[in-house]
Amino acid sequence: MSINIKKKIRIKELIKLNKYLFKCPICNEDMFINEIDSLVCESNHSFDMARKGYINLLTSKITSFYSKELFEARHTVCNAGFYTPLIIEITKIIDDYIANLYSEKINILDAGCGEGSHLYSVLQTLKNSQNNTYVGVDISKDSINIASRNNADIIWCVADLAKLPFQTRAFDVILNILSPANYSEFNRVLYDEGIIIKVVPGNNYLKELRDIIYDNKEFTEYSNSNVINHFNEMSIIHTMKNINYRYDVRKELLPDLIKTINSNKRC
Ligand SMILES: C[S@@+](CC[C@H](N)C(=O)[O-])C[C@H]1O[C@@H](n2cnc3c(N)ncnc32)[C@H](O)[C@@H]1O
Repeated sequence: MSINIKKKIRIKELIKLNKYLFKCPICNEDMFINEIDSLVCESNHSFDMARKGYINLLTSKITSFYSKELFEARHTVCNAGFYTPLIIEITKIIDDYIANLYSEKINILDAGCGEGSHLYSVLQTLKNSQNNTYVGVDISKDSINIASRNNADIIWCVADLAKLPFQTRAFDVILNILSPANYSEFNRVLYDEGIIIKVVPGNNYLKELRDIIYDNKEFTEYSNSNVINHFNEMSIIHTMKNINYRYDVRKELLPDLIKTINSNKRC
């Protein structure tokens, strides 16, 4: 049996176990996996599982702002450990959150997960990570295609943040890392005591590179105060952390890192 088929069977079982998380993006009904491995609702709206084991739950065709090439570049940058200190901070927050719960199992959604490296690294770094359910969502099929290359037990979905195909109060933790947000949807799918971990680039994010590449101040000076203020209006900010670290970029990584710079202007 090929690796893809084995993986598809595993992910199908994972979705079956967690079918209560899903709602039909067309009619909002409950969903289940049918005998031909599609995720369907009572009204027979049907969403197929791709060979790689992800599910496309978009209801209309959407052209992504980001190219496949950009996601591949980001994948290389993430694999090189560029975001490791950030992932360690995120997993500390989640581990502390779980330590204060009665339940030892939580559901984690990465909203705008891109090529999936962050969620994969969170899964690998969390204590008792096998207890949890992990779901990654992105509007770009190219990004989810890359995300689903890894062999982890993660449910990858192509879907729109503005219309999440999940039940109300389905998730304990929402990650929203360097991505756009939809706070009314986040607040809907978040459990009452749940947390949103939002990551925005700080003023100095990639500053050394931006200073070299751009003359224009619009690109060299970076502020996300509007994004933070909006987040504060829509959710309660319990804690805000500045994470500063330096990373020595190998020459070979530079072209991929440069490609990813502009992608962060849309967070
Ligand atoms: C700057 S990238 C960050 C991706 C990833 N979190 C990371 O840090 O590598 C922003 C991501 O948000 C996704 N995105 C943008 N609008 C979206 C929407 N309406 N629904 C779902 N994902 C969306 C993009 O496809 C892209 O993958």
